[in-house]
Amino acid sequence: MIITKEELPKVALNEMNEIHYEEVDMINNLYDAAVSGDYEKTKKLLDEFIEHIEDHFSFEEDLMEQNEFFAYPMHKMEHDRVIRDLYELKKKFEETKDTKLVANFLKEGFLPWLIGHLNTMDAVTASFLAGY
Ligand SMILES: [Fe+2]
Ligand SMILES: [Fe+2]
Repeated sequence: MIITKEELPKVALNEMNEIHYEEVDMINNLYDAAVSGDYEKTKKLLDEFIEHIEDHFSFEEDLMEQNEFFAYPMHKMEHDRVIRDLYELKKKFEETKDTKLVANFLKEGFLPWLIGHLNTMDAVTASFLAGY
């Protein structure tokens, strides 16, 4: 386990918080599998995680577009960059079968990014959508 739900910044829109909470469980399970060195399990959980991230990001992007949110391009750019990083990680991981790559990516790259993103882009977006 590398993160608890309590450690995750909350935003002003519950639908967004719920998606973020689902990701906490996925991150922890993926991290544990990666640390244990189980390639098949890590691969399966990584694929599911990427799929969830894509749904998470498109959910927010659709809301931003529908509500003509001013910072939509900036927010989407951050999402796109992380998706690219995730596919790059997946490629390297499947080539090397080194599960430590996945554990390190989550710990050093993805998690710090996610916390920062929730505190900035997602927080501003949620407040805007919630009508503040
Ligand atoms: Fe989000
Ligand atoms: Fe976001």
